[in-house]
Amino acid sequence: MAHAGHYALKLNPKPDYQHIKVEPITLALGAYVSGVNFSDVCSNMVYAEIADALWKYHVLFFRNQTLPGKSHLALARSFGKPEVHEIFQADNDYPEISILENDNKRPPEINTWHTDTTFRKKPSLCTILFCETMPEAGGDTMWLNQNLAFETLSEPIREMLLGLEAEHDILNYYAGTEMLEGAGGEEKGLELRKTHPVVRHPVIISHPITRKPCLLVNPTHTKKLSGLRSLESHRILQFLYEHQQTPEFTVRFRWEPGSISIWDNFATQHYAFADYYPMHRKMRRITVEGENTEAYDLRRFSNNC
Ligand SMILES: [Fe+2]
Repeated sequence: MAHAGHYALKLNPKPDYQHIKVEPITLALGAYVSGVNFSDVCSNMVYAEIADALWKYHVLFFRNQTLPGKSHLALARSFGKPEVHEIFQADNDYPEISILENDNKRPPEINTWHTDTTFRKKPSLCTILFCETMPEAGGDTMWLNQNLAFETLSEPIREMLLGLEAEHDILNYYAGTEMLEGAGGEEKGLELRKTHPVVRHPVIISHPITRKPCLLVNPTHTKKLSGLRSLESHRILQFLYEHQQTPEFTVRFRWEPGSISIWDNFATQHYAFADYYPMHRKMRRITVEGENTEAYDLRRFSNNC
């Protein structure tokens, strides 16, 4: 009989691609992809195969790449519309490219698990992160699988979560950070309060591409479970965060200059290690616009299984 720690994780059958080679990493998520040079992509089929692999493995890793702004945007556009971030510093030529740079004067600040931009009505569909500078050791990133986190909960807990919504707030985490200070401080905070009212998302969403159920609460941007007493909300969210962060649901990536990762934002959370401070780490990032979230409907989808 299966016990609480018995997840029976299964590897996806390896797809047969014509242009890329995919090597899965853990049973939960993540794959190394080779056979592509992003500064010279010869066919849209390459992008189509990468997208197919992304929805299967949720986070893809590429090594030894150069990614000029033009190529970074072309890759992002193969998934949809590139976005501009509210707070992050932007590249001088490409406003859609955020520069995430930390060193002795700029300590890393986002070192908590999160799904990108859940404070938006339409959270990002995917994120493409390029590594420009990385210390010899440290600065890794971890991802976890939000579909597995849902699937491994027992039925009564799933039933309870399927009816719930959560509030997400841009200022929940950014308020008081150096990043917000750099973007305009208190004045910027007041502006964001007007442009970004607190948004609600279902706790269990139907993934916009795969339609799989995914948990969409995270300890960075989620403020509260709607309609619950604050202590109930706090305790249920803590339980969910601990469950999501189960090591069996994760993968960890060691960056090198020239590495790229692309992640399926709705199906994952990520955590950036701050262990390299005060050394220099520089990344270039684009997110792609997602869709309005949709609650997962157990009855509607159970007929398809
Ligand atoms: Fe992030």
